[in-house]
Amino acid sequence: MQSLTLRATLHHHQRRALLKASRRGGKGGRTMVVVSSSMASSFPSSRTTGPSKSSSSSFFPSSSIGVSQRRALLTKATFYPKSSSSSSSSSSSSSSSSSAARKVSARAESSSSSSSLSTFAPEAETSTTRRTRLKRVLSGVQPTGSIHLGNYFGAIKNYVKLQDEHDAYYCVVDLHAITAGGHSPKELEESTRKSAAIYLAAGVSPDKASVFVQSHVAAHSELCWLLNCVSPIGWLEKMIQFKEKARKQGEDVSVGLLDYPVLMAADILLYNADLVPVGEDQRQHLELTRDIAGRFNNLYGGNKWKKRGKNEKSPSGRYRGKDVLIVPEAFTPKSGGRVMSLTDGSAKMSKSNPAEGSRINVLDSPDVIAQKIKRCKTDAVEGMSYDDERPEAKNLLTMYELCTGMSREEVLNECASMRWGEFKPALTEVVVNHLKPIQERYEEIMSEEGYLDSVLEQGAVRANEVAEKTCADVRDAMGFVHRKSRYPSM
Ligand code: AMP
Ligand code: TRP
Repeated sequence: MQSLTLRATLHHHQRRALLKASRRGGKGGRTMVVVSSSMASSFPSSRTTGPSKSSSSSFFPSSSIGVSQRRALLTKATFYPKSSSSSSSSSSSSSSSSSAARKVSARAESSSSSSSLSTFAPEAETSTTRRTRLKRVLSGVQPTGSIHLGNYFGAIKNYVKLQDEHDAYYCVVDLHAITAGGHSPKELEESTRKSAAIYLAAGVSPDKASVFVQSHVAAHSELCWLLNCVSPIGWLEKMIQFKEKARKQGEDVSVGLLDYPVLMAADILLYNADLVPVGEDQRQHLELTRDIAGRFNNLYGGNKWKKRGKNEKSPSGRYRGKDVLIVPEAFTPKSGGRVMSLTDGSAKMSKSNPAEGSRINVLDSPDVIAQKIKRCKTDAVEGMSYDDERPEAKNLLTMYELCTGMSREEVLNECASMRWGEFKPALTEVVVNHLKPIQERYEEIMSEEGYLDSVLEQGAVRANEVAEKTCADVRDAMGFVHRKSRYPSM
């Protein structure tokens, strides 16, 4: 029996940098000490929490090096001479704040051709050196209702995919969950833990990604306020999600609901995220985030920032005079970016639909899944096809594809000749089989006293470290007086 262990964790980029450094040898890369002792102390040494759990081991992979080695490695990162690195950054091409010039820049997974290395290193960048860092990913799901297959295939599954090659931050966005107004405190608390546990059960590894609760990082709220003051209200009033929810809520609609996308922009921009895995419904919010970042950079970045303060360097140690905020891109899967309702193939699967039968939740029992699929909407056509004119058939075939990992062609080979009566049990089986291991791990995680809290604590420490730096630079660029005890040299 392997134990469910919270390992001493190097950030993935640190492990990669070290690997690279050791491979490069004398090839021009040089190794410098860059990580502070406070940072090192935020990565606890190997620690076993609670009883043994066998099947968890593959989801909480341990590194094969010892604690002391990991500690030692933590203090190193690789720097490369500036001349040897490309100076492009994802933000340079897209800092236009003109809403007329808004382009749909969010790109589909299939069109992603850029490597996961980025040369823009907002933290600890120096004039003569530029650290090559892994691209950063940030995303989050609201802890409202139950997480369903749309959330899972549209977002969470891609968290898992991206964590291997990116520096990943995944939060449970509890501050967003209260924007509908009148939430139940008890439900919020339960749902926040549940959502975090589902991330882990689905394969997000605390070894590879920082998993945290949004409200554990105060900088989200602070940056939201600062960005509020550069975000025209008209941009927010145009948001489809706001218009739809406001229509439903009438006069009771809260300021928080209007402001929701600015908080989301703060979530993303705080971490200098390059990529944001989301379902299609969030692409408009991503565009808005890009516009807000562009507007902020135009108003306070570049030369205007350079002129601020007597030191060349910003509070986070960057050279002033560039973009303060990185303009991110959306990462939306080709299949699964928009999973549709079981009861209406033209509406997306959603947590807020009062009809429970419209969605399959990740934690639904096999019986419930079977019932929901049995009752789902069908059409009168014989055989199964991905035809756009048959939204229900297309949606359920896509679900089959996502659960089995098969290609469309393979799915059609297997299912094209099936009638609904044959296809539904087949779909039930693959959905149940896909969710079974996730549900088992979920139970283990929830029964492991203290484990989830320790993961969230570790995630919050890492997240705060990055977020505080960005927030400090934003304050600096905007002209807020530095608190002397925080920045004695400023
Ligand atoms: P939410 O439940 O609104 O917090 O959504 C969390 C994530 O799931 C976001 O990235 C959404 O874009 C994604 N998502 C929500 N519903 C669907 C759906 N029906 N299909 C695909 N992705 C979805
Ligand atoms: N608005 C997102 C949704 O409803 C949730 C969210 C909040 C989010 N902050 C985020 C998603 C930051 C990605 C990145 O689905």
